[in-house]
Amino acid sequence: MDAAPNTLYGCAGNRRFTMRDLQLATDRHERWSMITAYDALTAGIFEAAGVPALLVGDSAASVVFGHSTTLPVTVDELISLVQGVIRGTKQALVIADMPFGSYQGSPAQALETAVRFMKEGGAHAVKLEGGAAVLPQIELLANSGIPVIGHLGLTPQSVNLLGGYRVQGRGEQGELLIRDAKAMESAGACGLVLEVVPSTLAAKVSEVLTIPTIGIGAGPGTDAQVIVWQDLLGLTPDPAPKFVRRYADLRSVMSDAVRAWTEDVSNGTYPTQEQSYE
Ligand code: KIV
Repeated sequence: MDAAPNTLYGCAGNRRFTMRDLQLATDRHERWSMITAYDALTAGIFEAAGVPALLVGDSAASVVFGHSTTLPVTVDELISLVQGVIRGTKQALVIADMPFGSYQGSPAQALETAVRFMKEGGAHAVKLEGGAAVLPQIELLANSGIPVIGHLGLTPQSVNLLGGYRVQGRGEQGELLIRDAKAMESAGACGLVLEVVPSTLAAKVSEVLTIPTIGIGAGPGTDAQVIVWQDLLGLTPDPAPKFVRRYADLRSVMSDAVRAWTEDVSNGTYPTQEQSYE
């Protein structure tokens, strides 16, 4: 699998991107991107397209395994996906999302899960959701040499507590989010995902933090952007969330192609001699 020569973000192209590269890019005010990936082939495409960071998100629960929330996906399921993404790439930084129930119990539980993602999956960093409650987890992971990315705002693993997928951090909640963000940086987080928060709040957090903020539905003021690839490329059905801009319509492309193939099979025009062996 060819990786495009890539000199973006200070990486010469003969090694994988690191969180340090992305921190340095942020320090230089260069915006960068992160996209979800769940398998070897698409991961290779995204890397060759110039995306330095791939997130094996717990969004796999929905877009890979068909669940209606992210809650059911397991560490074992995600480790298999991380392995595929690692095998399909040469340059990307691969981040494993720690799923619901795999780190909230204690810092020791978080360390055990993160170590599995790194040893068995080959991940280079992990991500976890939550604010003040997971500070001890962040501290232990960072002190153990594990790059850990936090996630504030709309945290889908807490959907039952939040009462749905709605904008977070409006009004007084915003101050709390800023406090959590600063505390996470102090605890050792090396990046922070901000999901579905007002753009003014995301810009303010990005201003006060040194570590990169990675926005999804957080407006243009964050240091980086992350997106679920099936949303970006039009594989998920409409309606897409407001923050999604569709860059392709894979749903139509795939359904038109498969419809044409199944019709050709039915009417005997596929295969022909051209697709047959002597
Ligand atoms: O699981 C995921 O894909 C995520 C991104 C939406 C940030 O957490």
